[in-house]
Amino acid sequence: MHHQKLDSFPSDFLWGSASAAYQVEGAWDEDGKGESVWDKFVKIPGKTFKGTTGEVAVDHYHRYKEDVQLMAEQGLKAYRFSISWPRIIPDGNGEVNEAGIKFYEDLIDELLANEIEPVVTLYHWDLPQALQDEYLGWEGRQIINDFTRYCEIVFKRFKDKVKYWVTLNEQNVFISHGYLAASHPPNVKDPKRMLQANHHANLANAKAIKLFHELDIEGQIGPSFAYGPTYAFDADPKNQLAAENREEINANFWMDIYVYGRYPKVAWKYFEDNGIAPTIEVGDFDLLKEGKPDFLGLNYYQTATVKENRLDGVGAGKPNYTGEKGSTEESGMPGLYKEVSNPYVEYTNWDWAIDPSGLRIAMRRMTSRYDLPILITENGLGEYDRLEADGRIHDEYRINYIRDHIVAIQEAITDGVEVIGYCTWSYTDLLSWLNGYQKRYGFVYVDRDESNEKELKRYKKDSYFWYKKVIETNGQEL
Ligand code: BG6
Repeated sequence: MHHQKLDSFPSDFLWGSASAAYQVEGAWDEDGKGESVWDKFVKIPGKTFKGTTGEVAVDHYHRYKEDVQLMAEQGLKAYRFSISWPRIIPDGNGEVNEAGIKFYEDLIDELLANEIEPVVTLYHWDLPQALQDEYLGWEGRQIINDFTRYCEIVFKRFKDKVKYWVTLNEQNVFISHGYLAASHPPNVKDPKRMLQANHHANLANAKAIKLFHELDIEGQIGPSFAYGPTYAFDADPKNQLAAENREEINANFWMDIYVYGRYPKVAWKYFEDNGIAPTIEVGDFDLLKEGKPDFLGLNYYQTATVKENRLDGVGAGKPNYTGEKGSTEESGMPGLYKEVSNPYVEYTNWDWAIDPSGLRIAMRRMTSRYDLPILITENGLGEYDRLEADGRIHDEYRINYIRDHIVAIQEAITDGVEVIGYCTWSYTDLLSWLNGYQKRYGFVYVDRDESNEKELKRYKKDSYFWYKKVIETNGQEL
């Protein structure tokens, strides 16, 4: 669709940026915090890039005031961060740790004092290890109540200060990496266990949303989903069908349940035929229907392009976690699809497709299927950056990436999509779970690397100044 003129961004559009507790905070065992599954997983040799951990990360726990100051100076309107469950309840379901609450209360107050809207993610992957030990975490049904109790504590403490809430961050990523690829905790490769854990995550998500609505909190809540739309490689019907397969298994299967409280038929039949469909209990679908989100959070990085993959075709290949361009192995799901490279787009050094139109397509497809407002909770470019001798970082590649994606959002708004805001990933540089510290996303450079924490000094990148202008002009000057 070509437009004569693009609509302006709404005047209350949230120009934001994001982070996650484990990736920025550090202070992994301070002030009564319990161990999380990530604190433990990163110690398994060979699991993370060069053995990196978030034990210190970028020390946001101690430097949050300095970080918020940088946001304030830039004019940021919203900051999305996550609360670490084991900081609030160290063993997951026992005593509340007041010191943990206080850290987030101080952070929220600091943001509000600077007119920055806090967007709180309740779960960005750092499950209390104690719950993993007690009942296998997401595999135990008890997680539904324990997660809801944790949310209730946080809702009640912060309901007068926080208006935007994200339940689970990228359930599709933490579940598939955790239970199929064994590249996240709990380090399992078992599709049946994966789908059972996933079902519980769906129920926990719905129950927390239902409770939020029952508490009559003034605000909005929804999950953040990692949606990368699928393209068929060409008009060959076999490849078109492969694209349908990927959309059904990787997108509809996850988002339909959030919005409609049901699993889509084709995905469900596929899992049943393969003997891996989850066990459902009486009342599950009622709860799932009662937990309808107010908005859908969208984490968008890239699209996928696929071709037919026969039953004896290619399976899961190793992704590129090293930043060596072109090192991604061929990957697919036998009988469904295989991923191929797209000749129409450029790729990053980590082999991620750079495709702003894909963001517009994601928003359009979500609006068409779910008709809910969208909050873009993540979008950004992970790249190598160079700190110059004069303290500057010339990241024009990041500026280009974000600019093109902002234009795509404006086009989607003009198409008729309702958008609450845009949070880039990420505010400061931070730990990439599996890619160490060299894959940088921030507006603010943090001087540390895999082997040396140095002084963790902050530097403003060129993109910092550019985004400041974007915010000032409400997206008119890109
Ligand atoms: C999302 C996550 O998957 O993408 C973030 O929500 C993550 O936590 C981001 O850091 C970028 O991925 P990566 O692998 O490049 O760090």
